[in-house]
Amino acid sequence: MDKPPPPRPAIIVHAGAWAIPPEEKEVHRLGCLTAVQAGWAVLVEGGKAIDAVRAAVRSMEDDRNLNAGSGSVLTRGGHVELDAGLMNGTTLDCGAVAAVRNRKNPIEAAYEVLKTKYVLMTGFGGMEFLDEHGVPTVDPESLIEERERARLVDALQRDPGDGLDFGHAGVNLPGDTVGAVAIDRIGRIAAGASTGGICGKPPGRMGDTPIPGAGYYADDLAAGAACTGWGEPLLRMGLARRAVDLAREHNAMDATWLALKEFEERFYGRGGVILIGRDGSIGFSFNTPSMATAYMDEELQSPFVGGIAAD
Ligand code: GLY
Repeated sequence: MDKPPPPRPAIIVHAGAWAIPPEEKEVHRLGCLTAVQAGWAVLVEGGKAIDAVRAAVRSMEDDRNLNAGSGSVLTRGGHVELDAGLMNGTTLDCGAVAAVRNRKNPIEAAYEVLKTKYVLMTGFGGMEFLDEHGVPTVDPESLIEERERARLVDALQRDPGDGLDFGHAGVNLPGDTVGAVAIDRIGRIAAGASTGGICGKPPGRMGDTPIPGAGYYADDLAAGAACTGWGEPLLRMGLARRAVDLAREHNAMDATWLALKEFEERFYGRGGVILIGRDGSIGFSFNTPSMATAYMDEELQSPFVGGIAAD
């Protein structure tokens, strides 16, 4: 087998693939920039990829303009209900939480799960588990942004059903996921994702974001990937795992493009995927009008921010 190239630290983040409205484009750019800077600060200090991913995702969860943590989209009943997961590509350990209503940073809750022998915690027992592991609670109302109450009213008027038919339109999902992938100086890869899901979703509905292989995947021997978009086809396909496996044979950009092509042609999915190969190369692809994204590595003077179409 060829000797792998020496790893180059790098990080890529996204803040959702959808038809980002003109008035929200700048805040999405800024959210990605702030997140990539938070993750890069960990990597330049010699920190671990998983800690860079946590820092980047936490930054986007705390950004009330993005659909993760505070400011997320609302369920049909008007609640914030959050999913998150992350994976350590060295150990292949994963941690995830789903349908969480009273934690500010679900990615940190997922990290607490990752440190145990379990992978995914949800429901009443899952919340007790998080309490036992010291994950602080917050008032659920504190996670709600007025903008999202208005968006929910509009969404329910357009689709009084279960709120998920927006996916068939493909490009107009109100909101979406955030995610990050990083590789550190010694070649450790990590990937993570966090979301409020889809505006108007029924309570208990869960998409790809907390599921390893669907919303995120990392393997030091190949790549790390994180996905965004319509969660049901992402779950059916396992897009993140597919992109990582393609990166065993293809360069980072081609791996994302081939995976996304299959997602569209076979699963009629809309969304995007970001990826870092084991040599630190960057890839990203999306089939929506926009995917807010940013990345940074040692060759860049400052982070690249893009993926948002000009008006
Ligand atoms: N991709 C996020 C979701 O469908 O919940």
